[in-house]
Amino acid sequence: MTPLMILPMIRILTIETTCDETAAAVVTDSLEVLGSVVASQDNLHQKFGGVVPEIASRAHLENIVPVIDETIHRAGILLSDLDAVAVANTPGLAGSLLVGLSAAKALCVALRKPLIAINHLQAHIYACKIAFREDPFPCIGLIVSGGHSNFYRCATPLDFTPLGGTIDDAAGEAFDKVAAMLGLPYPGGPSIQKAAEKGNPKTYSFPRSLLDEPDRLAFSFSGLKTAVRYRLVGPGKTTDPAVIAAGLPKQEIADIAASFQEAVVDCLVGKSIQALRKTGMKTLCLGGGVAANERFRQKMENAAKNEQIRLFIAPITLCTDNAVMGAIAVERFHAKLFEPLDLDIYPGLIRNK
Ligand code: KG4
Ligand code: ZN
Repeated sequence: MTPLMILPMIRILTIETTCDETAAAVVTDSLEVLGSVVASQDNLHQKFGGVVPEIASRAHLENIVPVIDETIHRAGILLSDLDAVAVANTPGLAGSLLVGLSAAKALCVALRKPLIAINHLQAHIYACKIAFREDPFPCIGLIVSGGHSNFYRCATPLDFTPLGGTIDDAAGEAFDKVAAMLGLPYPGGPSIQKAAEKGNPKTYSFPRSLLDEPDRLAFSFSGLKTAVRYRLVGPGKTTDPAVIAAGLPKQEIADIAASFQEAVVDCLVGKSIQALRKTGMKTLCLGGGVAANERFRQKMENAAKNEQIRLFIAPITLCTDNAVMGAIAVERFHAKLFEPLDLDIYPGLIRNK
């Protein structure tokens, strides 16, 4: 009889600093989360109505060591127990990415452990696998975040092919900008969702761009944004829409928020169905902050039932930025896809090595 070999557990520290969350997690090769910490910077950016890159990178600098310390503490391990350190190095804000990458490299040098690169967008899709403990690959992945609204054909966790995306604003960006126009606090997505709860989504029929072009896997939200602006200030006027919004009854703000949210959701749901039909794929994974939107989740679930497709949407805490989704590094660890210590950041470029 061959003796049973017990393989040691692999533990990877994952670091996420692509935008305005400083996050770290310790994950195992069986996708168990031993510890996870997310330090949000929302309060720092709120008064500016959006993320200020310089403030974000400074805050990451202050937070990165305490966040990693706390993660290791929660995981109940020592740094020396780690098998690798993984870090999101693309895409994101340059200054923010640099902080995470520098921390990861320093740890790799000190601990003599391998370095793994994480693509932040791919990690958002991988969050579905972690949450459901079920393999969603191959699938169509839709990432809807503050900076991206992109479709991918995800053959495996290591093989993502871009299929198309927004030609102007990202969905989250549209939420953030319209929230600012309505005088609602940053981040705009949750504020608009809350305001929309009391609103009627049928009050205004805002545009649903590109839905009439089923072969084009693209989004456009700038016309929708302009439509909201015109509703508030009228065409050709330079008045700050937030000033007008401040004088409107709460019900009117709720109705605009609900009508806007409905238009974004209809575009996201409609284009997802078009992507599935066009590619013949039967599984859809959603990731990114906008996938936390309740109306979107509800309408996508209904559409998935009608179309008989498998739908994976991670729980809300795994939709917005976190380091647990960096467990995609486990796949790279097994494939021995390690990086040299001169690994760079790629703020705009989406690498798929
Ligand atoms: O993925 P994420 O946390 O960070 C980026 O990678 O960008 O996404 C942040 C975006 C923000 O634009 C935020 O307004 C949006 O996700 N968001 C939402 C909701 N929660 C966050 N949008 C709509 N509804 C939500 N509930
Ligand atoms: Zn993100």
